Amino acid sequence: MISTMMNELIVSFDKKKKKSSFCLSPINLPTELLPDEVLVKSHYSSINYKDMLSCLGDPAITRKYPHRPGSDLAGIVIKSNNSNFKTGDAVYTCTFPLGTTIRGTIADFVQIDGSLLGKIPQDISAKYVMQLGTAGFTAGYSIQKALELIELRHKRILISGADTSTGLYIALILNSMGFTPSIIIKRSTSHWALDRISYSEILYTEDFAETNYFALQRERFDVIFDLLGGSVLPKILAFIHSHGICISIGNILGSNCHISLLPFFQRGASLVGINSESYPVEKRPVVWAFVKEHITEKDLDTLTYKIDFVDVPVYLERRLNKQVVPSGRVFIRF
Ligand SMILES: NC(=O)c1ccc[n+]([C@@H]2O[C@H](COP(=O)([O-])OP(=O)(O)OC[C@H]3O[C@@H](n4cnc5c(N)ncnc54)[C@H](OP(=O)(O)O)[C@@H]3O)[C@@H](O)[C@H]2O)c1
Repeated sequence: MISTMMNELIVSFDKKKKKSSFCLSPINLPTELLPDEVLVKSHYSSINYKDMLSCLGDPAITRKYPHRPGSDLAGIVIKSNNSNFKTGDAVYTCTFPLGTTIRGTIADFVQIDGSLLGKIPQDISAKYVMQLGTAGFTAGYSIQKALELIELRHKRILISGADTSTGLYIALILNSMGFTPSIIIKRSTSHWALDRISYSEILYTEDFAETNYFALQRERFDVIFDLLGGSVLPKILAFIHSHGICISIGNILGSNCHISLLPFFQRGASLVGINSESYPVEKRPVVWAFVKEHITEKDLDTLTYKIDFVDVPVYLERRLNKQVVPSGRVFIRF
């Protein structure tokens, strides 16, 4: 039986003090659903980079507070006004624009338009889907995109930002496919993550940030997966091999940078963007199956950290105050 006692995570942001606060606030089960809406009992959610920015009051992500953050969710349908879903279906949502301007997923129950939901493939658990979440899906999609564009065999690969969840999952999948990429990480990154992946060379973000910028350097990498953007992207593009590709996924170091065009028209290199939000729901099972082939549940149990829903405000408070929090991608259990 489903309890009617339920809560949602609410973030408030004090614009004057520039400080967020977090609490769990009671919500009521909706009596009516809008056309095409589905009511989902949450089992798992997670906290992505974008969710954290929303929790910290980043105006580029969320402008109106109080706000309910969260972009990932896995659970069971308890009521449906959508012909694609029925009570009891195991469903998930991720990589949609939820939790930014639209109410997010970190709540005991979520009322959501069916177009933003997918069915969880039968051989995958709700927990697995959320341990991967947006980061794991994007990793799988980015590698599939690279495979569409270039023959990966014998290629030299670089992951810039291999210490983000998405970068780590890209490394895990590539390892399982037989590749040992070069990686760029933060010098202060703790070794827990690195122990779990194989890499051929380790480079540091800080060294790239400090070096002088030459538009073209010795050709070193055929394929680059870039999670960092900002000032590092132009510098790594300089090392791209003739006809190489750079898959632009993230912007941890900023969205703006000054790029030379020489890698493109002197080396025939390509810069390819990834936007997993726009990836069609009906094609997503193929990406999940690809990821499942390469990342096991056991891999995820050592790379992720579970927190119970009731503990989420304390966890966020600790991150806000830059206190030590457990390493690894965080997923939430309801
Ligand atoms: N294109 C798409 O469709 C798509 C989909 C998913 C994610 N993304 C993007 O991919 C990026 C990674 O997302 P995520 O959810 O995987 O991130 P995440 O696990 O939440 O990690 C992000 C955090 O990692 C730290 N960090 C890691 N490596 C770093 C480095 N080398 N230099 C500086 N800081 C570093 C920073 O935190 P500290 O400063 O606290 O250490 C940063 O806040 C983000 O830019 C995100 O927006 C894009």
